[in-house]
Amino acid sequence: MTGVYDVAVLLGSLRRESYSRKLALDVMARARGELDCRLVEVGDLPLYNEDLDDAPPPAWTRFRAEVARADGVLFVTPEYNRSVPGLLKNAIDVGSRPYGQSVFDGKPAAVISQTPHKLGAFGANHALRQSFVFLNMPVLQQPEIYLGGSAQLFDATGRIAAGEVANLLDRFVHAFAEWIARISPPRAQLPQALGAPPPARDGERGRVPF
Ligand SMILES: Cc1cc2nc3c(=O)[nH]c(=O)nc-3n(C[C@H](O)[C@H](O)[C@H](O)COP(=O)(O)O)c2cc1C
Repeated sequence: MTGVYDVAVLLGSLRRESYSRKLALDVMARARGELDCRLVEVGDLPLYNEDLDDAPPPAWTRFRAEVARADGVLFVTPEYNRSVPGLLKNAIDVGSRPYGQSVFDGKPAAVISQTPHKLGAFGANHALRQSFVFLNMPVLQQPEIYLGGSAQLFDATGRIAAGEVANLLDRFVHAFAEWIARISPPRAQLPQALGAPPPARDGERGRVPF
């Protein structure tokens, strides 16, 4: 079923001691054997500007290619002012354009939000889910991960200590692997391999654009 899926991990923080990063690294380690996860850099992406579409900055091209080859995308983020950090929203905007060529289109997604405070960064988690509707990203629904008190979650080695949260993350990883398997056929069975035409891109689907 799994072990064949490639997952791009996008972080919503650049902070050196970021809890989101620590969490992502822990989840990536947990996922080994089920998912091949890799961090995709978002900190070097110039702010999205349609004027640059004809000659995109190299960082945009690199980012789009790295997401395009993924079978799924995992977002691990803190909350800024009850929403998605601008860093991560910019990455979403860059990957979603030019219109009709979004690298996110149809890719299974999953979200982990964390905060050292309370409320589990629920606002950021659900602001992302709002974008997934337009991005056409089928997102894992359960288990939901809203982690509060994140500063207390890690042991001396930087891993999530064994216990309730670790168990929840294990279930999450497994559910995401199952979710990708359900949404994305194994690569050998993709329609292109069978001679069928590639699926329509979002700009060609005839939906209301805005
Ligand atoms: C601009 C800014 C806005 C923030 N807004 C929120 C917020 O709305 N909710 C929250 O729980 N924490 C908020 N925080 C605190 C972050 O949760 C905290 O800095 C966290 O450690 C950031 O994640 P990181 O450790 O991955 O960098 C905010 C922090 C910053 C810098």
